[in-house]
Amino acid sequence: MRIVPFDMSHYETVYSLWSETPGIGLSTSDGKEEIASFLKRNPGLSFIALSGEETAGTILCGHDGRRGYIYHLCVSPHFRHQGIAATLMEKSLEGLRRSGIKKCHLFVLKENREGYAFWTHSSWQERTDLTVFSLEP
Ligand SMILES: CC(C)(COP(=O)(O)OP(=O)(O)OC[C@H]1O[C@@H](n2cnc3c(N)ncnc32)[C@H](O)[C@@H]1OP(=O)(O)O)[C@@H](O)C(=O)NCCC(=O)NCCS
Repeated sequence: MRIVPFDMSHYETVYSLWSETPGIGLSTSDGKEEIASFLKRNPGLSFIALSGEETAGTILCGHDGRRGYIYHLCVSPHFRHQGIAATLMEKSLEGLRRSGIKKCHLFVLKENREGYAFWTHSSWQERTDLTVFSLEP
């Protein structure tokens, strides 16, 4: 298994993995242009796990100068429970630490019980004091 930087040459295969994975919420912000822009603004924080040429897992990570954000941590079903998600997460967190970011947030869809179980199993703290608001400006 190789962990490589997420670059746009992987976009099509990554997008099809995301589309096939329950729990990964996709929107217009996952279009090719939008992901290219995200990666350009946040170099060295997003990764792909490759088994041969097959995409086994992904993580998108960025920050706004104050807080880090993780999106689309996703491992293909037949590669699960081998520590791939934990490795991807640690690579991104390491990048955030290097950038001086002291806290990272992530969003889990309410119906995503598997994702919820993963994050609660790790040392992430669930925020019950927050509600997310969104607007299309
Ligand atoms: C959640 C997901 C990324 C985990 O990937 P993975 O590569 O199988 O996870 P890992 O093997 O790195 O597991 C790391 C640890 O979490 C635990 N874990 C993994 N999946 C778990 C689950 N569904 N429930 C509880 N614990 C889980 C493992 O047992 C392991 O614990 P350990 O370090 O004590 O051995 C994967 O199941 C997935 O892609 N799910 C669908 C997409 C998703 O929900 N992503 C999260 C978006 S918020």
